[in-house]
Amino acid sequence: MKRYLTPETLATKDLSGLFPGDSLKLHTHQIQGRAIEEIERNFEEDEDLQKESLIEAQQTAGFHEIELRNAIGAHFNHMFLWSILDAPGAIEGKEPVGKLKELVDKHFSGYDGLRESFAKAVNQRVLPGWVWLGFIPANGQLVITQTNNEDNTLMHGIALVQCVPIIGIDLWEHAYFAQFGGDKNAYLERFWAHVNWGKVSHRFEATILPTGKPAPIHPEELI
Ligand SMILES: [Fe+2]
Repeated sequence: MKRYLTPETLATKDLSGLFPGDSLKLHTHQIQGRAIEEIERNFEEDEDLQKESLIEAQQTAGFHEIELRNAIGAHFNHMFLWSILDAPGAIEGKEPVGKLKELVDKHFSGYDGLRESFAKAVNQRVLPGWVWLGFIPANGQLVITQTNNEDNTLMHGIALVQCVPIIGIDLWEHAYFAQFGGDKNAYLERFWAHVNWGKVSHRFEATILPTGKPAPIHPEELI
């Protein structure tokens, strides 16, 4: 997991339309930065942590003390978030395409239906956490699900619905309160404008669908 534990892997792309001013720095330097410190504090005496990839560490996060579990989740969740977002002018595709589009059409009657179901889950959420669109490899279904705090859908024994995340939205107040005054729908609308569906769809078709596993997050995707 060491390769991820460097400041230069943190997001440097322009997400100011969604996280203006210092709000991106709040995630990358404070929340993710603290998570990395916590992981590093445990790193030397934890051989599993040394061996596991960032994704593998999610699956075993539930075996750790809560502080380390939160840190492992927070680091992955934010890395994942930076990997699916881009500035609106830089995104390839404003809607799902290919196999992902086929499944979105099947399960949600199209992209509008997906956004409607996703918005419902976002608005239902009152506690800090994340809402996800995920893929269940065992039955080939898409699902919208939620996790608490910094947990995610890869965590064995923790996630209510175990699935491979396709997109996810940060619903901690630190993610939207300052810029949207607590208006989650305004936050969500801006979020949709930043989701790089071309990349998300490619990742789904090239890796998630054929292997049933999450696609690795490459640091170079975050720059
Ligand atoms: Fe966050």
